[in-house]
Amino acid sequence: MAMKQHLVDAFNAQIQAEFQSAYVYLGMAAWFTENNLPGFAQWMRVQWEEETQHAMKLYDFLHNRGENVTLRPLTAPGGSYTSALDVFEHVHSHEQSITASINALYELALTEKDLPSQIVLQWFINEQVEEEALVIEIIERLKLVGSDGPSIYLLDRQMATRTPGPEGA
Ligand code: FEO
Repeated sequence: MAMKQHLVDAFNAQIQAEFQSAYVYLGMAAWFTENNLPGFAQWMRVQWEEETQHAMKLYDFLHNRGENVTLRPLTAPGGSYTSALDVFEHVHSHEQSITASINALYELALTEKDLPSQIVLQWFINEQVEEEALVIEIIERLKLVGSDGPSIYLLDRQMATRTPGPEGA
């Protein structure tokens, strides 16, 4: 069954949002490298990869439904942060806006009674819950260590152990 055009448009907007997220996180990876926190930089590179996989999951979905993918322009990510905590607070507000757009897309799929769209979006709804929880955990740890150099060093080493999950999970 063909998708309604405004639902296709909304999926294309979400593809753009996921690629934009990847771009924002790549900018943050660069900031961490430039501020001598290679473990945090590695974590952000994995995040960049996962967001790219999220975009591609939606891209493949549109094609599998026989619809067209229309790639939209990205904007330059912000690049100046005051601390690792500041970076992760930006991540948190960014993810909250992504959660809102996924939820709105799901509501549209419900209104249109488009069941395959609902199913693919349920994966994203779960993913957003996990991502927001993970980011909050990191923010709490960063608040705990404050400006204590040795603790930041240990946390940076721990962040370096993140590897990409299967299927952008
Ligand atoms: Fe693809 Fe971080 O949401």
